Amino acid sequence: MIRNPDSDLLQESISLSVPKKQGEKAIQLLAKLRLLNRKLTPQALDDQLHVPLSRAPKPQEQELLESVLGQQSLLREEFRLRSETVGSLGKVLAQQLPSSIIPLVSNSFDVIGDIAIIELSPKAEPFEKDIAEALMKVHKNVKSVYSKAGPVTDNRRLRPLHHVLGVNRTQTIHKELGCRLKIDIAKAFFSPRLSGEHGRVAEQVRPGECVVDMFAGVGPFSILIAKRLNDVRIHAIDANPEAAKLIEENARMNKVQDRIKVWSGDARVVVKNNLEGIATRVIMNHPSQAREFLEPASEALARDGGMIHYYTFAEGADSESKARKELAGAMANSVWKLEKIMATRKVRGVAPMKWQIGLDAKIGPA
Ligand SMILES: C[S@@+](CC[C@H](N)C(=O)[O-])C[C@H]1O[C@@H](n2cnc3c(N)ncnc32)[C@H](O)[C@@H]1O
Repeated sequence: MIRNPDSDLLQESISLSVPKKQGEKAIQLLAKLRLLNRKLTPQALDDQLHVPLSRAPKPQEQELLESVLGQQSLLREEFRLRSETVGSLGKVLAQQLPSSIIPLVSNSFDVIGDIAIIELSPKAEPFEKDIAEALMKVHKNVKSVYSKAGPVTDNRRLRPLHHVLGVNRTQTIHKELGCRLKIDIAKAFFSPRLSGEHGRVAEQVRPGECVVDMFAGVGPFSILIAKRLNDVRIHAIDANPEAAKLIEENARMNKVQDRIKVWSGDARVVVKNNLEGIATRVIMNHPSQAREFLEPASEALARDGGMIHYYTFAEGADSESKARKELAGAMANSVWKLEKIMATRKVRGVAPMKWQIGLDAKIGPA
């Protein structure tokens, strides 16, 4: 059994963003110019296709791209490694482990900064040191390997971890979409699998907005939004004081502390006492409990309403429709009105046939 179907590794790359309808033409031209990064997978975000590049285009190449493709922009962001590239771990493991073990491990790890976190089935556990060694051989930047040693225990969304190999240090610096994030895997939640979602939400924010990030973790949404826009106000809340401390540090490290106010405490209380009626947008990335916070999230919005990014877990073939029904049901008795669900997407797989679902919802006064 492969436990985490979406855990391909991510790698940062310079990229070109073009309207989706230009996608095929862009890929052909980039390949001709030897600018296409074939190790990484292009990704679709809203109506744009983001194509990873092997290097920055020279000025004359840039001119050619503009004349053929029209409107486009150069970005720096993370892409999934193509499966052939990820497969190199499988090849190294194949030399060291019984072949029956390979399918159990080849897809079940995350890399955060220079730390790898593996999740092993009981059958693969006796081989954890060999697996960790192989991982460090393939991914030269990995200095420590930990394994997940139990389920998520409390509201901080942390799991117990067990040190397997390398330096026994849980702090690291992780790069995501051009931001440097200090992470402590033992003290505050972070998942590199949410990188696409952080980018997708940040891209929607416009200058002049006020954003409330209700369950901010170490601040990946907040920091990215603040890095993209000077003219923005962000309130980043987390009930875990260690997470709040890390947001403060991350804001300073990314030089955006002037536009992020960090609140350590229960989002319900922080909003009620300080943040009612101010936001154009509220981010609710706490899928297991977001539903219980819809009232304070709506109250944080300005009086004429705004956008809520709502997250939940849902299973089965109709998971997205279940998530939409959950949000509509929860808003039915509210003094606020669910005006329109603008977008629904599967953010990441969390178990076989179970996903974190993200909804962008326009909320207005009833
Ligand atoms: C799934 S994590 C999301 C982290 C972050 N948004 C990200 O994308 O990495 C949920 C976060 O909500 C925080 N949390 C849980 N209950 C909370 C509450 N009542 N008020 C504020 N934060 C809370 C947890 O400490 C955790 O950091």
